Amino acid sequence: MSLIKVQNLTKQYPDGETALKDVSLEVKSGEGIVLLGANGSGKSTFLRCLVGLEKATSGKILIDNQDIVSSSKKQLQEIRKKIGVVFQKFNLVNNLSAFQNVLFGNLGQSNKGFWSSLNLTASSEEREKAMECLARVSMAEFADRRTDTLSGGQRQRVAIARMLMQDPEIVLADEPVASLDPRAGREVMNLLWEIIEEKGLTVMCILHQLDFALEYGERLVGLQKGSLTLDRSAANINKKELNWLYEAEKVVKNYA
Ligand SMILES: Nc1ncnc2c1ncn2[C@@H]1O[C@H](COP(=O)(O)OP(=O)(O)OP(=O)(O)O)[C@@H](O)[C@H]1O
Ligand SMILES: [Mg+2]
Repeated sequence: MSLIKVQNLTKQYPDGETALKDVSLEVKSGEGIVLLGANGSGKSTFLRCLVGLEKATSGKILIDNQDIVSSSKKQLQEIRKKIGVVFQKFNLVNNLSAFQNVLFGNLGQSNKGFWSSLNLTASSEEREKAMECLARVSMAEFADRRTDTLSGGQRQRVAIARMLMQDPEIVLADEPVASLDPRAGREVMNLLWEIIEEKGLTVMCILHQLDFALEYGERLVGLQKGSLTLDRSAANINKKELNWLYEAEKVVKNYA
């Protein structure tokens, strides 16, 4: 059974832009997908629809067999707990410490509401877990640092620790290393993939670096102007073959 099943997903923004056109995709538990495509091809929109941050215009998105398009707000909250997100811009709360940012990651899991996730009232188990997550990304020594005083690579590590705190089944990453220099980028990719593999997580990661895509991705999925036109095993494709995704004006289907 597929963990993620997207059927005929279309997303039209209110101003008329059709960002996704009839996209269908099935993802099995534990699969590692890299999502590729030119600027504006609909990649971020696709991930945002998967996590319910953007509502699909039509189609179905089943996560663990639950349709998020037709689900209630409450059901959506439950489904979202299974999905960890990592963004290019880290999305950390700047004036809080690394530790507090990781504790906030537990928000969705907590039924005690917003304030229980602040360190003032968090349980000792939650605090211990947050420290363990920071240690896993080698950031324990920076636990008390405000995140706006950290480097980009360090911030993304904190964001990964926050994602870990959530115990997700699925990780959606939108250009997680785009703001980082080549060395920090590689370190963060290695760390992210190590964690994904050790926990057997399912991942869908948007990347613009084709070298990384081929190295880390197991399955490459590509969008062109909102249409899904590539779905291939990374083992059966090379960098040269991927370039048409960015060059071609016309939309060309390229399935395995
Ligand atoms: N909130 C929005 N309102 C209206 N149009 C939007 C909105 N967000 C995205 N779009 C449009 O939808 C299309 C797809 O955008 P999206 O951000 O999903 O692309 P992308 O593949 O992630 O691009 P990039 O590689 O630049 O991040 C674009 O034409 C964009 O202008
Ligand atoms: Mg994007």
